[in-house]
Amino acid sequence: TNKPRLYSGMQPSSDSLQIGNYIGALLSWKRMQEECDALFSIVDLHAITVPQDPAQLRENTRRTAAQYIAAGIDPSRSTLYVQSHVPAHAELAWVLNTITGFGEAGRMTQFKDKSAKQGADAASVGLFAYPVLMAADILLYRTEVVPVGEDQRQHIELTRDLATRFNSRFGDTFVLPEARILTETAKIYDLQNPTAKMSKSAESHAGVIWLLDEPSVTAKKIMRAVTDDDASVRFDREAKPGVSNLLSIYSVLSERSVDSIEDEFAASGYGAFKKGLAELVVSVFEPIRARTLEMLDDPAELDRILAGNAARAQEIADQTLQTVYDRIGL
Ligand code: ADP
Ligand code: NA
Repeated sequence: TNKPRLYSGMQPSSDSLQIGNYIGALLSWKRMQEECDALFSIVDLHAITVPQDPAQLRENTRRTAAQYIAAGIDPSRSTLYVQSHVPAHAELAWVLNTITGFGEAGRMTQFKDKSAKQGADAASVGLFAYPVLMAADILLYRTEVVPVGEDQRQHIELTRDLATRFNSRFGDTFVLPEARILTETAKIYDLQNPTAKMSKSAESHAGVIWLLDEPSVTAKKIMRAVTDDDASVRFDREAKPGVSNLLSIYSVLSERSVDSIEDEFAASGYGAFKKGLAELVVSVFEPIRARTLEMLDDPAELDRILAGNAARAQEIADQTLQTVYDRIGL
């Protein structure tokens, strides 16, 4: 095909995805899979850079795959697979480690943040080399487009630097990928702490809307979302972060402009606005939740889909790896 090659992925770091993963990643993946030759990975090798429970990780991986499909990633059109099923990821990562500067890797701000949280002695070499594995993920597939959040921009830059370095030392091998950074309204904040990004790994889950929450739980979380006492439904990220976040969610899920939603709720209080939002979120997530649970009831079928897709990914990845090995003398 002459469609641009797209690669993206998510860690299986919880048993449910959260609404930010849906709005910031899955929704745009679903749209982009139409015009791109897309690979979507569940990056379990990345997930083990922090301590994991083996049974839980295996379960989370399957659940993440089911949620990708339920949210609209079509495994017969896109390649949806589990990273560790394709050994070339770890093999290319090793090669790229050998051309990555120690200082260069040490400048990655995400490593600095994560290792500061874990404590310098607890952080592993795997956590340090995380961005190099990510570079391998992307470069293996001759990826042109990588849809990511702003926090991944530096990792894509590193990927381009490593590709350029390898190409100039060993001959033209890798395609230089472009980051496609998410828009500001696609960034969702914690409902209880609306200046912090909503995250699967947030310490408190009170302000996190999970895709697999029961409808009544979702509604309750939205009704309890932190707002302000100005009582006007108006977008102002600085002065009104809570209301602005709810407006972003409303706008993306209804495919309506923020203006038109402000107009609709101009005369009503926050109660009516939140109630409308809760109904909207439940109407979007309820079918996704039902479909996910249905797929999890048939693990053999899900495993069959993942194995077929991993075989497709492996075909491309092995070609790149073979070229790399040839070029470097292995
Ligand atoms: P999490 O913080 O939930 O663990 P990840 O860091 O694994 O999420 O990111 C997975 C994908 O979801 C990425 O593409 C990321 O940009 C997107 N994403 C995560 N949280 C949000 C959010 N709060 N708003 C928008 N997009 C998000
Ligand atoms: Na995370």
